[in-house]
Amino acid sequence: MTLLGVNIDHVATIRNARGGHEPEPIHAALVAEASGADSIVCHLREDRRHITDRDVKLLGEVLNTALQLEMALHEDVITVALELKPREVMIVPEKREELTTEGGFDAAKELDRLKVVVGKFRTAGIGVSVFIDADMQQVDAAHKAGADTVEIHTGPYSHAKTAAEYDEELDRIETAAHRAWELGLDVHAGHGLNYHNIERLLRQIPVEKVNIGHAIVSRAVFTGLENAVRDMKALITAIS
Ligand code: PXP
Repeated sequence: MTLLGVNIDHVATIRNARGGHEPEPIHAALVAEASGADSIVCHLREDRRHITDRDVKLLGEVLNTALQLEMALHEDVITVALELKPREVMIVPEKREELTTEGGFDAAKELDRLKVVVGKFRTAGIGVSVFIDADMQQVDAAHKAGADTVEIHTGPYSHAKTAAEYDEELDRIETAAHRAWELGLDVHAGHGLNYHNIERLLRQIPVEKVNIGHAIVSRAVFTGLENAVRDMKALITAIS
């Protein structure tokens, strides 16, 4: 069965737009867990633009499922992760100017550095996933580095427009996933997955887990907006 990891970064982005604690990402994580999420994912960026050190510390304390901490190979974030000991870290590339993670980590190019960091995490009993493009060379490199999971970047699949583009991207993901399975790795998938493209992906490639953030938080705005407006209207009506 495919598990669902819910990424709560966007809740932190809304919170940070005003400072303070509203909406509280920890609350979002607990609601997601209560609604069936199998794990909570958040990205502690070097610039702390959304999730903060305080958030990951609290998540580490309160979650009933598992915390998957997404992170780049920055020394201070590695230190936080080693102290926190989440169930799993996910290594991603990070650029300050990007809106979101733009491509897979180049495990082949960064193999030596990756191997050292993966070794530290595995010794500390923390699982390691590497977020990679759907590419056999990258799968092999993540395996050589000692990772136990690869997350295959589904961004290009999510941008497909035609049936031929969908098929081409799915075939690339499938080839990479089969290579990973041959090597004994778990396969996760993420980025740009939504209510329209998830079914086609999972029917062809039943990965162990999908990580989804933007589509879920976007839908929550509309599934929750009606009640939010009704509640405020009721309060105003009651006093006027
Ligand atoms: N996986 C990785 C590695 C990511 O960086 C992200 C975005 O933070 C996701 C999954 C979730 O992507 P989305 O928000 O598009 O669902």
